[in-house]
Amino acid sequence: MEPVILDNAAAMARLRAGLAQRGMDNIPAGPVADEPSPDEPGHPEYHRRHRAEWALARWTTATPPRYRRADATHPDVQQWADDVATDPETAGSLLLTGTTGTGKTYQAYGALRRIAAAGPSVYEVVSITAADMYGRLRPKGSDRGMEEELKRLCRVPLLLLDDLGSAKASEWTEEVTYRLINERYNACRPSLYTSNLPARAAVDGHGQPVGPDLASALGERIVSRLSEDTRVVAMTGHDRRRPAP
Ligand SMILES: Nc1ncnc2c1ncn2[C@@H]1O[C@H](COP(=O)(O)OP(=O)(O)O)[C@@H](O)[C@H]1O
Ligand SMILES: [Mg+2]
Repeated sequence: MEPVILDNAAAMARLRAGLAQRGMDNIPAGPVADEPSPDEPGHPEYHRRHRAEWALARWTTATPPRYRRADATHPDVQQWADDVATDPETAGSLLLTGTTGTGKTYQAYGALRRIAAAGPSVYEVVSITAADMYGRLRPKGSDRGMEEELKRLCRVPLLLLDDLGSAKASEWTEEVTYRLINERYNACRPSLYTSNLPARAAVDGHGQPVGPDLASALGERIVSRLSEDTRVVAMTGHDRRRPAP
């Protein structure tokens, strides 16, 4: 249909009168705001919120009940989580160290929750303790078989490996841990490690470590690989599982 051009004063007057009758004569002229609002599809914030809802639901089902209230309160942990949410390829990894009960696992699940809440484009996480991982990687430890299981842990976009260095070490545990950490490092996939041991213990006057550390528990090359892209956060404080001293 041809558009009707209102170039005629009488026609304009009739139109105004018609609009006035309907109470529509006070609508200001100007550009129409037809951009979607944050509550409508098409707005980036709308889609981010949906991704966050979905990721938080995944986080909840993947998190043990004890840590469902976990919150990343440590500023360095918050920063790492924000960096992962912004760009997982450049964020690097995080190692939380500290004695039992200082809140490492709590901060770790809190970090995973914070990443989910940011509404990342990909949210796929595996959380496992190092001891359970070695169990799954042993012959008959999983249906997939060792190589497939290791591949899954190497390829998952985000990995929480809890209590590194606590399981009894052997040449085999050192080898699979190195393969995992090295492959994730090469692929720039962020990982979150926790350990009761410091990465490297202080040394005495003879250059000998004064206590146990990850380097002696897992092997020097693993700690050296970790040192290349991993932020270390030392958790301090009393054992939260016991009454405060
Ligand atoms: N900031 C915190 N606020 C409340 N509870 C916490 C906090 N940090 C840890 N906890 C609780 O204290 C206990 C020990 O923390 P956890 O993270 O398991 O310690 P770790 O892994 O260092 O051994 C857990 O029950 C945990 O839920
Ligand atoms: Mg723990």
